[in-house]
Amino acid sequence: MSTQPTILVLGATGKVGAKIAQILAQSGDVKVVAGVRSPNKAKTLEAIGIEIRHLDLDRQETLAPALAGIDRALLLTGYTVDMLKQSKAFLDTAKQTGVEHIVHIGASGAPTNEVAHWGWHQLIEKYIEALGFSFTHLRPEAFMQNLLGFGWLKLGVLTNYIANTRWSWVSCDDVALVAAVTLRRPQEHRGQIYPLGYQAATMPEIAKELTEIIGKPFQVDNHSPEEFLETVLKAGGDPAYMQCIYHQLKLNIANAIPQADATFDNFEQITGQKPTTWRSLIQQERSSFLY
Ligand SMILES: NC(=O)c1ccc[n+]([C@@H]2O[C@H](COP(=O)([O-])OP(=O)(O)OC[C@H]3O[C@@H](n4cnc5c(N)ncnc54)[C@H](OP(=O)(O)O)[C@@H]3O)[C@@H](O)[C@H]2O)c1
Repeated sequence: MSTQPTILVLGATGKVGAKIAQILAQSGDVKVVAGVRSPNKAKTLEAIGIEIRHLDLDRQETLAPALAGIDRALLLTGYTVDMLKQSKAFLDTAKQTGVEHIVHIGASGAPTNEVAHWGWHQLIEKYIEALGFSFTHLRPEAFMQNLLGFGWLKLGVLTNYIANTRWSWVSCDDVALVAAVTLRRPQEHRGQIYPLGYQAATMPEIAKELTEIIGKPFQVDNHSPEEFLETVLKAGGDPAYMQCIYHQLKLNIANAIPQADATFDNFEQITGQKPTTWRSLIQQERSSFLY
């Protein structure tokens, strides 16, 4: 029988979770289970030896079977207010089934109570602690991959909802690497809260980097937070969650979020590697930005 710890990864069909599952599987020193609600989307994970279990955070009856025999878990939820109910149900069940360590993908820890979904993530952190889990809380700033994943960049035009605000950015791959390291070595990272944001930049500054590196013009197209809200709601976004982002954008533009551009120097210490910069991301993923 294997003595390797068994790790359950949620969100493994999404941007961050897929990468975490892959890094863990490649490490060879843990057994990886992906808890997914759409097993047909998990074929590439299955092909690299990851066990796929059906887990739908909205269906309580799927939680205990998916959590059977799990020692450590990555808690990741999607972009809806249901994250609160889902996280509580998951954590209550994980406590009963004997999970020891939880790594949680949260959001910015900027010192404000005005951005509701950041606070929701912090309430989940507190619930993880209250249940007595060993834990590592990750607090990523804005994902660099939002540009492509959310369709903000198309044919050399960068949709800008934040005027000249400088956001702190992190690559999804860097978030995934930190999550994988902390899941593999919980004894070194238990009780830690890691803010993850490694380069501050405005949208015009990102467009300038793209222009220089790709060698074609990239321009910024300014839009209001109201236009953001209208667009995401039309696309089926969750109104409660998207209202939080809308409010965040308005506060950003008013320069009313303290430390919105804060960056941190913890990445090398946690992973032994240098964090991704906009320059390195654009160079690595050149073909995705080309038009
Ligand atoms: N974007 C940012 O700038 C940013 C910054 C900081 C923090 N975050 C946090 O990052 C998280 C999102 O990460 P991401 O971008 O990797 O997400 P993503 O690509 O949208 O993936 C979300 C994952 O969650 C799964 N999921 C959704 N509902 C589920 C349910 N009911 N049961 C089981 N699985 C479910 C999805 O499964 P399906 O494939 O089946 O839909 C998918 O695998 C959020 O918690 C967000 O707050 C994001």
